[in-house]
Amino acid sequence: MLSAQQIKERKGKQKIAQITAYDFGFAKIAEAAGIDQILVGDSLANTMLGYKSTQSIGMTEMLVFTAAVCRGAPNTHVIADMPFKSYDDPKSALENAKRFMDVGASSVKLEGFMPDAIETLIQNGIPVCAHLGLLPQTAVSMKQVGKTEEEAERLLKEITAIDELGAYECVLEHIPEILGEKLTKAVSLITIGIGGGPHTDGHVTVLHDALGINNGKIPPFATKYCNIFDIAKKGIEDYVSFVHTEAL
Ligand code: KIV
Ligand code: NA
Repeated sequence: MLSAQQIKERKGKQKIAQITAYDFGFAKIAEAAGIDQILVGDSLANTMLGYKSTQSIGMTEMLVFTAAVCRGAPNTHVIADMPFKSYDDPKSALENAKRFMDVGASSVKLEGFMPDAIETLIQNGIPVCAHLGLLPQTAVSMKQVGKTEEEAERLLKEITAIDELGAYECVLEHIPEILGEKLTKAVSLITIGIGGGPHTDGHVTVLHDALGINNGKIPPFATKYCNIFDIAKKGIEDYVSFVHTEAL
């Protein structure tokens, strides 16, 4: 299993391949495939539970899925995504992060520029992955972030501060390619892009987008590597027709 420090040491050497997973079965598959890190994203609100917003879930749901992923991928670095309202202040951030570490997570991720919470977690030995750019927990629009010079400057300041606080990694979501490159070069932490262009230190993709688990729309920056929906549908169709045609 890669530690946060070992992940950081990959900068400039080999990119980090990260994918989300939410349950025991797919965590096992991701580990067998040699993934570097699994993110138990709060996107499970959408992919696993059918909610429109990640605001609809909390620690209760996240702990159940994180524990399942850790059981399925015991030798893989698992990042637990801190849900909406679970890190409003440093004290609650630490309490909740500890609960994730107790079920087997190797690090935690939180959205936005939260220097006090990040500092508290790191001081208490919990490796932190930050998340800048589009922030699904609070975003009012799905527009790209960092297109104006002011926004780009703000993101540069924020990621530099987060780097200095000692976060080992930062997700960069839906930002211009050129900014992905600039931010990556400015810091010692690992940048993980999702719609951040080709220059980040690694990439993350949502499992359901990458494997075609649902047949809905996927973001323009996602790639469908296989089509589980069609494979599984065919399997169930075969099962249904077997049962329906079996003699009474
Ligand atoms: O919840 C999630 O899946 C995420 C990734 C998109 C980075 O936060
Ligand atoms: Na998330």
